[in-house]
Amino acid sequence: MGEVRVKRPPVTKDDLLQLTIEDLTSNGEGVGRFKGFTVFVPGALPQETVTARVISVQKHYARALLRELIQTSPQRTESKCRTYRRCGGCQLQHLSYGEQLQFKQRVVEQAFMRIGKVEKVRVLPTMGMDNPWAYRNKAQFPLTERNGHIVAGFFAPRSHQVVEISECFLQHPQINMVLQRFLSVANELEIPVYNENSGTGFLRHLLVRVAVTTGELMVAVVTTSADTPRLTELVKGMTTGIPKITSFLLNINSKRTNVILGSRWRVLYGSPTITDYLGPYRFCISGGSFFQVNPFQTVRLYEQARAYAGLTGHEVVIDAYCGIGSISLFLAEQAQFVHGIEVVPAAIDDARQNALENGVKNAEFHVGEVERVLPQLTAQGILCPDVVVLDPPRRGCRPEALLALSSVRPDRIVYISCNPATLARDIGVLTVRGYEVQEVQPVDMFPQTYHVETVVKLKRKKK
Ligand SMILES: C[S@@+](CC[C@H](N)C(=O)[O-])C[C@H]1O[C@@H](n2cnc3c(N)ncnc32)[C@H](O)[C@@H]1O
Repeated sequence: MGEVRVKRPPVTKDDLLQLTIEDLTSNGEGVGRFKGFTVFVPGALPQETVTARVISVQKHYARALLRELIQTSPQRTESKCRTYRRCGGCQLQHLSYGEQLQFKQRVVEQAFMRIGKVEKVRVLPTMGMDNPWAYRNKAQFPLTERNGHIVAGFFAPRSHQVVEISECFLQHPQINMVLQRFLSVANELEIPVYNENSGTGFLRHLLVRVAVTTGELMVAVVTTSADTPRLTELVKGMTTGIPKITSFLLNINSKRTNVILGSRWRVLYGSPTITDYLGPYRFCISGGSFFQVNPFQTVRLYEQARAYAGLTGHEVVIDAYCGIGSISLFLAEQAQFVHGIEVVPAAIDDARQNALENGVKNAEFHVGEVERVLPQLTAQGILCPDVVVLDPPRRGCRPEALLALSSVRPDRIVYISCNPATLARDIGVLTVRGYEVQEVQPVDMFPQTYHVETVVKLKRKKK
């Protein structure tokens, strides 16, 4: 038998390489080549020459840490944050905002071509923000102990190590203020922090939500037990210092897991929800329900989705993956009837309440998985939708959901997605099953990060 020769990568761990960066990956890492071998360098930009130390080598690529910039890109900007690159929250603070928007447009275009195999798609320039900072209305800070003190932060990239932060420039300033107060009160009370190695202690995460239009604040402490010591004093210390806290919740997560939230909630103070407005609509948001994290761009996203739905007042619309029904309310204004479908029962309760409080009578909400509820609704002949709006989680639609959709055959589909790869995959399926892509609008819901939201307008092809 002949000898099989395995080609060895031309680099080994700890090598210091000089590289010219040619491109960015879809998650914002610089791409260089060493003797034709791909090396990813987070923090490096196209047109830059850098030195980088190899930290891992795989069969087809290596990853290296940026050491020195020999030639700098004109698009490089000074990052605002002291912990940038150590904390895993942002990836693009070193890239000018204009270039971030162009990068996101390219990511969507390339996903359509490479993954969806959909050519000649018109991807519009990314809809950006005037001020691409302080936009987040929700933070979940892991808590840990350092030198006998409770500290909060975010996880380092690809790790469970907490990078301590005192403020985050992506968060609404009120969230940073709550964090500071929490650390001072919790440290004073010496409430033991959960230790994931030993499984002892109580405090796991701090969740903060701000309703940007009303200023109401929700604080939730995630702990291992309902018997967490000194909770009453914690609540008092927080709410007397910050009167805008109108909701203080306890979330109990006793499992040894990386999942942040447990299933049990208790109201420790105030209301179980806070109230915010998106456009003219008022929303009650509970601790566990999904609400878009960038409320400023959400209204623009929803308006775009509604425009793509092409409503005239006569259409029956399905809002699949409807969360707390926020898109449903925007659509109901211009449709005959809207049916929302969502798997989380608490979100459906919120959706019904939101429709009621906003005086929306032409919307109904159904609990369950889209892949199960959509065929049920349509099989009974209850409804024959003209338009279906899809806004699935990052993993995209399950094949059964796409199958159900192609048998329902609505005239228009509006697909909203926060993951270009699964979006392109699903659009690829829909185009094979008789739909054409008419327009694609990326929306920057997450400035300074590689994430991008996209709205796609699809129309059923004429036979
Ligand atoms: C990206 S969010 C969209 C929420 C809403 N459209 C909005 O803009 O606020 C996705 C939602 O889909 C829900 N979900 C996930 N898998 C589902 C499924 N198989 N069927 C129905 N809903 C699902 C999640 O609970 C979440 O509320």
